[in-house]
Amino acid sequence: MQVAERKVKVTAFGCQMNERDAETITGFLEKLGYAPTDSLDDADMVIFVTCCVRESAENRALANLADTKALKRRRTGLVIGICGCMVQQKKMQEYIREKMPWVDLVFGTHNIHRLPELVSRVLAGERVIEVWDEPGEIVSDVPAVRTSKISAYVNVTYGCDNFCSYCIVPYVRGRERSRTVEEVLGEVRDLASRGYREVTLLGQNVNSYGRGLPPLASGKRPDFAHLLREVDKIPGLVRVRFTTSHPKDMSDELIDTIAGARKVCEHFHLPLQAGGDRVLERMNRGYTSAQYLNLVERIRRAIENAAITTDIMVGFPGETEEDFQGTLEVVRLARFDAAFTFIYSPREGTKAATMPDQVPHDVKHERIYRLIELVNETAREVNERLRGAVVEVMVEGPSDRDPSVLAGRTRTNKMVHWKPPHPVSPGDLVLVRIDEPHTWTLHGTQVGEGDTSWRSKP
Ligand code: 5AD
Ligand code: SF4
Repeated sequence: MQVAERKVKVTAFGCQMNERDAETITGFLEKLGYAPTDSLDDADMVIFVTCCVRESAENRALANLADTKALKRRRTGLVIGICGCMVQQKKMQEYIREKMPWVDLVFGTHNIHRLPELVSRVLAGERVIEVWDEPGEIVSDVPAVRTSKISAYVNVTYGCDNFCSYCIVPYVRGRERSRTVEEVLGEVRDLASRGYREVTLLGQNVNSYGRGLPPLASGKRPDFAHLLREVDKIPGLVRVRFTTSHPKDMSDELIDTIAGARKVCEHFHLPLQAGGDRVLERMNRGYTSAQYLNLVERIRRAIENAAITTDIMVGFPGETEEDFQGTLEVVRLARFDAAFTFIYSPREGTKAATMPDQVPHDVKHERIYRLIELVNETAREVNERLRGAVVEVMVEGPSDRDPSVLAGRTRTNKMVHWKPPHPVSPGDLVLVRIDEPHTWTLHGTQVGEGDTSWRSKP
């Protein structure tokens, strides 16, 4: 008798690090005989990769986990697992241990590579809760089932040493560690040889890449500019993206490297967080609003068409109306292409959580509403300037709403929708004239092929 293949549904919440971790988890589970599925109904195992950066992210994960109780009652043998940033917190481990007895497996951000052993113990009937407080050595050569066939995430650093006073990430992802240049290049070369066209280099702060690595033959310590120059040379690859940049670590050399690199895309995700200097200081961000705006200026001077996106928070403890006006002013002056906006959420264990003058709920809501209005208005104006322009777009696939309409992105990471005049494939470069720019997407007409003549050259 043939045994039906077992299936696993892995759901990631939060940032791209988690999406990348979900690919590794899926890779380990595939080796253990589990095929990935998107459907809860035919899953034999369900794993949630959680985020804890804001309370709302935790609540979403906990609600999903609560729903699995009934599912498990209906389906004997179903394995429920949870991992990621949220369960790095002791309090959360205890909550799940006591209040969610139907959860079979809990593991953390530092011991994903232990999954084969942990799963075999669960299958033998044990309830396994194993979370490491500290990372071990960086484990290489881990499997991955990548979500996309053309675009891949590649970790360059893990963890964060910045300790912004509101942020839980340094506590749950640990100290900053850089992978070696050879390790990163090896992974990117392998991806390119398997047909991947685009990589996104990932780190909490990619600009500090290389700290702690041994010097190169030249005697110089490798830094992010060096890594980008090397990745830029890899044949087969068409686009190189990177995220997240920390404004305090963006050197002129790095900006010049990005300006001069062929494949590195002119898109900077530079979290501002706040525009009032008093708030920035208490956030421990390491820059003033003037320094931030100067950086924006330096980027725009070096790279005319650069897109700059950001993260902004409202309602940090002690934020006054005047401080908030400072944020609005920086948004007006920086002219962001897009911004993710957040309401400050106190995270236990961080410095800001115990600061006096926590901002009332309704004030936070009123501020974020005004901020979103301004951010959207600016994004619309910035995109309006693309009306009539011809942009190079990498094809991703059919758009979500209409399969006859394709979706793809510009080098500046703007989503474009158009009807192709002839069949094209994911990963192809095409030229699209922008007819209708909107706030979040650009609608256009395909007018030609992208320049791919340099693609195979180093
Ligand atoms: N509350 C709200 N937003 C937060 N972020 C990080 N920590 C918090 C918090 N405690 C936001 C920051 C960061 C993004 C990933 O999440 O803007 O850049
Ligand atoms: Fe958090 Fe600041 Fe590190 Fe970003 S740089 S992960 S906001 S501590």
